[in-house]
Amino acid sequence: MLTIHFLLLWLAFSAQATACLLCFTTQRKRARVCQHFFGHRVSQHGNCQPIMERAFARFAKTQVDASEIEKLKDIFGRMIFSLEEKSMAKVPYPLAVKEAEKQVEKEMAQLKAAPACIPPCGFQKEARQYRCSSCTMVDCSLPIDCPIQDVHKSEGDVTLLSCGVKFEIPEDATFRWKFVKEIRTNKVFLFQDLNFGFNPSLLIRPTLGSHHGTFACQIAGEDGVLVRKFFYLNVTEKRLHLEKELQEMFKAILNPPPMVEVAGETWGEEVQTNLTESEMPSLEEILSGPDFLHKKVVVFLIVGIAMLSTLATMIAMTIYRWATDIKL
Ligand SMILES: *[C@@H]1O[C@H](CO)[C@@H](O)[C@H](O)[C@H]1NC(C)=O
Ligand SMILES: *[C@@H]1O[C@H](CO)[C@@H](O)[C@H](O)[C@H]1NC(C)=O
Repeated sequence: MLTIHFLLLWLAFSAQATACLLCFTTQRKRARVCQHFFGHRVSQHGNCQPIMERAFARFAKTQVDASEIEKLKDIFGRMIFSLEEKSMAKVPYPLAVKEAEKQVEKEMAQLKAAPACIPPCGFQKEARQYRCSSCTMVDCSLPIDCPIQDVHKSEGDVTLLSCGVKFEIPEDATFRWKFVKEIRTNKVFLFQDLNFGFNPSLLIRPTLGSHHGTFACQIAGEDGVLVRKFFYLNVTEKRLHLEKELQEMFKAILNPPPMVEVAGETWGEEVQTNLTESEMPSLEEILSGPDFLHKKVVVFLIVGIAMLSTLATMIAMTIYRWATDIKL
């Protein structure tokens, strides 16, 4: 019952537009000020605190840089103290409150405001502010992940990706670059780490077909990840089409067995879209050897012949033993 009563009282107070006063002075301190001015004239007490609250109503929505909170606390601490002094000097209560309010206003003007949040993303500690309306610290409500930026390049171009941000980051912030092949995504779990350190940019020279995919850069401070930027690098593969034509020519000339057809399809289409085959050699490696297919066929044939002959020998030996066993 008592708890509910206090809760209602608290709600009644917080609903009033006097937030800074209520954040930094306690009910007991304010009551003591009234005691100082009105002593045992209890009939006056009922009005005393509402007068004070009305006078400080203008600081209801005050918000300052988070680093100023101690100063804000001091301003209200001094204000209570100065009211008590004025009561002893027999200054009339309404006048004392008005003077106190003017003093607070003057001191508050010295406090610095938090810099604005810079959209569209990132944890911006600099922009953290203290809000009297809720008596709490408030951070920017921006996401850590930035929207994906599209970067179009042709094979052979130089690509420079920059992880710079417009807001301040700690001096010892670290940069982690990640990559996922082929797809355009911002799902962090799909990425593989590329490198880690203090370098805010990534230079790709020359840009190859195997670089087609999404690069992510993650900036972290001691409080954790501050921001993640995503770059979808869309590489137009000039060489791919050229090489494809060449391969067709080779195939026609060599007239290879059906196995080559399968292999040709694999690197031609599936590798580009099928992520599960990431352990395959990169497109670049495959393309760098024009006689790749030929070599592979020879290897397949040799291995095949070797396995077949081993099998034949084993079968022959088994049959022989079986036959001799029966005779005995
Ligand atoms: C990549 O670029 C090509 C042409 O430049 C375009 O047709 C294709 O849609 C782009 N891919 C994505 C995922 O944006
Ligand atoms: C990717 O390859 C796996 C087998 O390696 C196959 O099961 C899957 O269907 C393929 N996915 C696509 C999209 O081709």
